Amino acid sequence: MGKEEPGPQGSEFTIGKENNSPTESRFTRMKKSDNSQSQLFATRLGVIAATVGSAVGLGNIWRFPYEAGVHGGGAFMIVYLVFIFLLGIPVLTAEFVLGRSTHRSVFGAFGFLKPGTRFKGIGLIGVVASLMILSFYSVVAGWTLEYFIRSFGDLFSKNGSDDFHRMFGEFTEGWRPILWTVVFLLINMLVIVRGVQKGVERASNIITPLLFVLILIFCVNSLTLSGAREGLEFLFRPDFSEISPSVVIGAMGQAFFSLSLGLGCMLTYASYFKDDTPLIRSATVTAGLDVMAAILSGILIFPAVFTYGFSPEAGPALVFEVLPAIFAQMPGGKIFAPLFFFMLFLASLSSTISMSEIMVSWLTRERGVSRRSACWLTIGIAMFFGVLCALSFSYMSGLKIAGTIEFNIFNIFDYTSSNILLPFGGMLISIFTGWQLDRNIVKKTMNEPKSWFNRFAPFVIFILKYVAPVMIFVIFVSNV
Ligand code: PHE
Repeated sequence: MGKEEPGPQGSEFTIGKENNSPTESRFTRMKKSDNSQSQLFATRLGVIAATVGSAVGLGNIWRFPYEAGVHGGGAFMIVYLVFIFLLGIPVLTAEFVLGRSTHRSVFGAFGFLKPGTRFKGIGLIGVVASLMILSFYSVVAGWTLEYFIRSFGDLFSKNGSDDFHRMFGEFTEGWRPILWTVVFLLINMLVIVRGVQKGVERASNIITPLLFVLILIFCVNSLTLSGAREGLEFLFRPDFSEISPSVVIGAMGQAFFSLSLGLGCMLTYASYFKDDTPLIRSATVTAGLDVMAAILSGILIFPAVFTYGFSPEAGPALVFEVLPAIFAQMPGGKIFAPLFFFMLFLASLSSTISMSEIMVSWLTRERGVSRRSACWLTIGIAMFFGVLCALSFSYMSGLKIAGTIEFNIFNIFDYTSSNILLPFGGMLISIFTGWQLDRNIVKKTMNEPKSWFNRFAPFVIFILKYVAPVMIFVIFVSNV
């Protein structure tokens, strides 16, 4: 963005350009990022594949159906869609603006644009949230590995919801989830030490489209089930009386989680964008595909839930009990089951890579840590907490604090990161972009030559300035 003219506040805010402002001395004390080393995503398609790869994952296929199930189906879905379009796309665009214009990490970007700003603290939220998510997410990703292996064996010897329920219970109460969590994190390690761009960009180009094709095939199959009508009604017919503060906060958290938003993950990826990458357009395409993956997963799961007599409120176990039931009855299920769990594993990997990159990019770019050490440190912390999360279903289940409050680290990490830290981070990112940066330069950064999407820029800025901060604040307060 070196070509940008400084705006009225140009002395302090010159996007992507080092300036000679009075704050220069403070500013130069910051370690400069080494952009010659940090490669950029090679193609536009690679940009979309990587951002969609981060966005689409367990959040869509596992978390969306379970959250929708717990929160009444249709009502949750409507609120979730409102959040994606009203808050998700603008905040995603803001993260893209911050990342692409600075080519820095979630800590560095804020200080680069406004030296000395307190908003640098968003970096801390990002690193903490990413480690929490990485920990519990790796447990679930580990489950996909177990089910992948089982789909060559006893997965099909069961029938009836009780059998699948018992199978999941017995598995998660044992030691194997701990093993799989560790294995998954080691695989994640192998990819991230190589540097993110080549591995992620290339892998995402293949994984993401294939995942969509598989989900579509399963959707068609689910629609032939006897409970299809009931399932679709549950998902698509909202009962507005069900909308409560907990539904709203759950849907907001899901929107942020699913778009990998509010913790600087997309900011970090955008720091690998070339300077001519279109931002509003990329944000819209990413959000559109992400929503599509979530809705398709709902269409895949809920008909089966009603056909086989599962409870939609089963929580985190839901998808892992329902999917095997679908595969057991579907023609070609024995082939599709391993294929699907393997894709799910890869989709998880493309998301955990992006989570890891938040801390790794900060340590390597701002703290001068070598990539290898940064990766080990990130994975080491995630492994420690990941194992504790895995134990939440077995040896540490039913743990009570002060004899009363149930203490389940898995649920606490999931709830705190998604429903509190990410929206809070998103609120601060909106305020920073909307109020602290020069409007004209932000607009210029978003715009692309002769694009139809440019007309949305003022609207995006308006949302960042007023709508997002107020809305998130009100939702927080109404939940307290
Ligand atoms: N968006 C990812 C998913 O839906 C999860 C994620 C959250 C990834 C936060 C990165 C950062 O699976």
